[in-house]
Amino acid sequence: MSYLMLTFTLIIAVLLIIRKKMKGVSCSVDRDMTGEVVVITGSNTGIGLETAKHLAKRNATIIMGCRDMQKAKQAVAQIMQETQNKAKIELFQLDLSDLDSIRTFVKSVKSKFDQITILINNAGLFGLIEKRVTKQNFEMIFGTNYIGTFYLTEQLLSLFKKENQNRILNVVSYIQKFDSPDYSFFDSNKKYEHIKAYFQSKYYLTLYSLYLNEQYQDSLNLKSVSIHPGVIDTEITRNLCSSIKIINIFLNSFLRYIYTFFIKTPIEGAQTTLHTALINFNQLAGGKYYKECKVEELKQITIKYAKETYNFTNDFLSKLKY
Ligand SMILES: NC(=O)c1ccc[n+]([C@@H]2O[C@H](COP(=O)([O-])OP(=O)(O)OC[C@H]3O[C@@H](n4cnc5c(N)ncnc54)[C@H](OP(=O)(O)O)[C@@H]3O)[C@@H](O)[C@H]2O)c1
Repeated sequence: MSYLMLTFTLIIAVLLIIRKKMKGVSCSVDRDMTGEVVVITGSNTGIGLETAKHLAKRNATIIMGCRDMQKAKQAVAQIMQETQNKAKIELFQLDLSDLDSIRTFVKSVKSKFDQITILINNAGLFGLIEKRVTKQNFEMIFGTNYIGTFYLTEQLLSLFKKENQNRILNVVSYIQKFDSPDYSFFDSNKKYEHIKAYFQSKYYLTLYSLYLNEQYQDSLNLKSVSIHPGVIDTEITRNLCSSIKIINIFLNSFLRYIYTFFIKTPIEGAQTTLHTALINFNQLAGGKYYKECKVEELKQITIKYAKETYNFTNDFLSKLKY
């Protein structure tokens, strides 16, 4: 009996340790953000919505860039309710899979704001089993997560003013150890593997953070970092669920309780984004990759590849006349 009790206690203890590790750490920094203007993409749900809510509570003006305006209006209503109608929010439509939509979004932002201080590239797409292409004929995951985010960022750069402390925070993911950038992802005829497309898009975005930091740290007083938020229970699995029924059945069964016991909630997933937005500017490690509110060194993210990839992307878009 006592042996059984001991085994049971040990199993519970191990499960609780795993849970604690999976749930991650909380952001322990704070500051008043009065006067700051923060653009957040994909802020109608998941990590983006939590980020918007928490920065709005600290008095930042939030510009929400969202694809689904119906969901976005509900998100705005939720933020207003949680801030007793004190939040300062502007909502504009943004579809990162369409470069023309990005142009329209930027025009709308520029018509109302002459400066921004933080850009949080949070929006992301995962798990499209069937290949799709963007309006400008990029593979959909790569075109949204990397090309769209790159183009948006380039278009917004003129709103960062040197007299401010500026940040660009790119929400990426786990970064695989690629040997070098694979430019064949720019070709929409490439054989489609959705997982590879996702991880390459996040690898490119991590290289882009380093490039931005190198290029604009002095000239714009701007720091850029990448963020791995962990594994979070959000709508990110929606495409997988609609294609692979077994995942849907799993997520809608009692097994969901076990799964959600271990992985992060959206607010837990937003902690590293909040940390990099709130930490004192001098303490933010520009160009770096953050995980669990701490810097993690990635040897595969080099300035050589960052510059090469930036030039390749820029030339590619110029040839498309964007
Ligand atoms: N959840 C995880 O475990 C996990 C792990 C690692 C990294 N991440 C990253 O974390 C970020 C936030 O994801 P999440 O977990 O919060 O997922 P989510 O709940 O699915 O949120 C993703 C957001 O991106 C938006 N989006 C997708 N495609 C878009 C497009 N073409 N144009 C504009 N917005 C678009 C979505 O808008 P709609 O509602 O209109 O679709 C949604 O607001 C993503 O970059 C994701 O890759 C998540």
